[in-house]
Amino acid sequence: MHALQSAGIRPVLLWFVLAGTACRAISDTAAGASPMKCEPFGTAPSGESVELITLTNAHGVELRAMTYGAIIVSLKVPDRTGATGDVVLGYDSLAGYVSSSPYFGAVVGRYGNRIANGRFTLDGKSYTLAVNNGPNALHGGLKGFDKVVWSADTAHTARGSKVTFRYESKDGEEGYPGTLATSVSYTLTDANEVEIAYVATTDKTTPLNLTQHSYFNLAGRGDILGHVLTLAADRYTPVDTTLIPSGTLAPVAGTPFDFTAPHAIGERINADHQQIRFGGGYDHNFVLTRPDTGLALAAVLKERSSGRTLEVRTTEPGVQFYSGNFLDGTLTGKGRQVYQRRSGLCLETQHFPNSPNQASFPSTILRPGETYRSRTVWKFWAE
Ligand code: GLA
Repeated sequence: MHALQSAGIRPVLLWFVLAGTACRAISDTAAGASPMKCEPFGTAPSGESVELITLTNAHGVELRAMTYGAIIVSLKVPDRTGATGDVVLGYDSLAGYVSSSPYFGAVVGRYGNRIANGRFTLDGKSYTLAVNNGPNALHGGLKGFDKVVWSADTAHTARGSKVTFRYESKDGEEGYPGTLATSVSYTLTDANEVEIAYVATTDKTTPLNLTQHSYFNLAGRGDILGHVLTLAADRYTPVDTTLIPSGTLAPVAGTPFDFTAPHAIGERINADHQQIRFGGGYDHNFVLTRPDTGLALAAVLKERSSGRTLEVRTTEPGVQFYSGNFLDGTLTGKGRQVYQRRSGLCLETQHFPNSPNQASFPSTILRPGETYRSRTVWKFWAE
């Protein structure tokens, strides 16, 4: 692709399959579409080559995502002066993501968040998963969707430039039943939105809970304690010391979990509250107050110095607000930034943790013949 472009060949519509790789890109510059790029980004531990896809829009927003983990590697958005800055944590190269990453930018699955004791029962059969987070299974297992190589296709659509990642998870992979065909697409629109759309089908009944684990820092540096957050949630799911929900939906009113009106994240993060202690800060699922099953507001995040604002809408019933409590200064990321405690925060739109073991929670079970669909939209602007 890049070789053709540098040779000055710009056909109206050209499919070009990169030999030996999964990445296909379209060049459609004559139609006035924003440019897309697909380039090599190293080799995964499996020996598979990894591709990096760059999407841009008319306002200089740039999203880079790679086939390893369908990871969003960088996301550059303007501040109030128009200067673009990278608002997600991560690494400059593949090596960092492979050697040590707390799910920076990744799609997590097959089951994002925790399953108590790594066990669940489905249609009378018991399943055992690897336990990788205290006594629990977290984020899909030892080699979850964040650590596999996906294929990628790019396309120009009416909404914007789009990359679609696909991965087929084998029957029994990480202990989960059924061959699962999964896709996730990122579409960058000219309204400065990133639309994330997941689709999946299975040949055996399986739990499924996909989410995007980007760590945001709208200033591009420092910690997130001054970021101001609003959550469209009047209840949350209190947890035990291992972060498994008790099953009750507790009101946020009168607690440090009340973000129904805007609050700086640092304001109550050290409050003397049992749930704050259990989470080491915020690491909780919020129950979204939604009018219907369509896209509904989940969160608004504002950062004063840059003016950057992120609005999150989703079709999911919950959002895990994680305030980066486990970052501890041992990881050095992009541009040699040392990621200290709370230098980024996640807003993981999802179903509730441990749903396979909690009959009262919205179901996370996908059956053969059904199609799983989930959508989340991040919209950026500066004030
Ligand atoms: C999620 C979890 C956190 C933590 C991070 C990854 O947000 O809820 O407890 O495991 O992922 O570090």
